[in-house]
Order: sequence, then C-alpha cells, then structure tokens
Amino acid sequence: GYRAEDDYDLLFKVVLIGDSGVGKSNLLSRFTRNEFSLESKSTIGVEFATRSLNVDSKVIKAQIWDTAGQERWIGIVLAIAPFGLRTDFIDGVEILSCLRELHSGYRAITSAYYRGAVGALLVYDVTRHSTFESVERWLKELRDHTDPNIVVMLIGNKSDLRHLVAVSTEDGKSFAERESLYFMETSALEATNVDNAFTEVLNQIY
Ligand code: GTP
Ligand code: MG
Repeated sequence: GYRAEDDYDLLFKVVLIGDSGVGKSNLLSRFTRNEFSLESKSTIGVEFATRSLNVDSKVIKAQIWDTAGQERWIGIVLAIAPFGLRTDFIDGVEILSCLRELHSGYRAITSAYYRGAVGALLVYDVTRHSTFESVERWLKELRDHTDPNIVVMLIGNKSDLRHLVAVSTEDGKSFAERESLYFMETSALEATNVDNAFTEVLNQIY
C-alpha cells in the first residue's frame, strides 16, 4: 500500500569510527547521497545522515553518525587550551579546572556519540598501516561505550589504491575473525562494496 516518504518501521543508529583521513565521511556521503569528494575536509564536531532501506518488507531507516578521528579531537583541545590560558587564566588552579572541563566535555561528547548505537563501521585505510594499528584502540573505546550485541564491521577502505597497499586483505580478515567482526574492503572513490558494507550491517542488526 501507500507509504509516506518518511515513514519507517525501524530506526537503527550506526556509528563510523577510525583514525582521521581513513575515509569515514566519504563512505557516508557515498552511501547516503552517492557523492565522493577528493578534497574533503576533516569533519568538525558530529554529523549524521540517513538512508532508508527495505529489508523483509520492512522499511529500515539507518541513521549514520560521523565524527573526526579521535586524535584530531585531542589536537583541537590542545590547540585551544593555550589561548584560554593566555587570555583568561593566570592561576594554576584555573588552568587545571579549565583542562578538566575540556576533558569532561570530550568524554560527554564521546558517550553521546555511542549512545544507542546498534551498529558500527570501524574503518582503517589500507594504504596507511598506522590506521590499522589503531583499530584495537577504537574497538576498546567502542566496547567500553556500547552494548555487547552491537554489530561491528571492520572496513579496509581505499581499496582502489592497489599499488599503495600497506595492509593485506589477509591481515584485515584474520584480525576481524579473531575479534568476531564482519570484514570488507571498500572504495568510497570507486563505490566498491560501500552499499554492501552498510546493508550487511543493517541486515545483521535486523
Ligand atoms: P576525519 O573527518 O578527519 O576523521 O577523516 P575521514 O575519515 O572522514 O576521511 P575523509 O572521508 O574526509 O577522507 C580523507 C581523504 O581520503 C579525502 O581526501 C578523500 O578524498 C580520500 N578518500 C576517502 N575515501 C577514499 C577511497 O576510497 N579511495 C581514495 N583513493 N581516496 C579516498
Ligand atoms: Mg570526516
């Protein structure tokens, strides 16, 4: 029968995590708007976008959250702190309370980001090994903040850059197996496996 455009049966929150520059925002824009940008800027704050899919004659609305890789957040805090100190604070106690405030603000943002998430895409860049080494840390943060039943997919993005590969498919796959994660290699640029990755996560949640 007829359904209004914004009608849905289920709403699933999915979070994107991983180091800065791995391609989280481009995976999101590819999946929700079929757009890609070679010159995208690092994400500031938190953004989200939605896309509805039909699964089993149900309409599932995926609400996908995106933020900057964590090290960038810390960079912003460290960059702002000295300005606060120079202009407004002279007293050591004030400085400490300022830093404590920034730290608790950061923690509040982190828990709000993960709250209610039922799926996650943990992304690394197949051309930068350090982003793969960070996966363990991201997984720990995710598990500290979410329900144990959350569906997690490990994503090796930028698979189009074949001549620059620094993390083999085998290494990605065996890490995922060890940690009981789903696994896929994607290219937001070539639109390879992007729909597959998101729909697999949504199907597994459902
Ligand atoms: P933060 O917001 O800083 O955490 O980064 P991000 O993970 O959102 O990365 P973003 O999507 O902004 O992409 C970073 C850079 O990688 C941009 O220059 C993109 O064009 C590029 N990029 C993203 N995905 C791909 C891909 O699949 N292939 C190639 N070749 N480049 C990509
Ligand atoms: Mg981004």
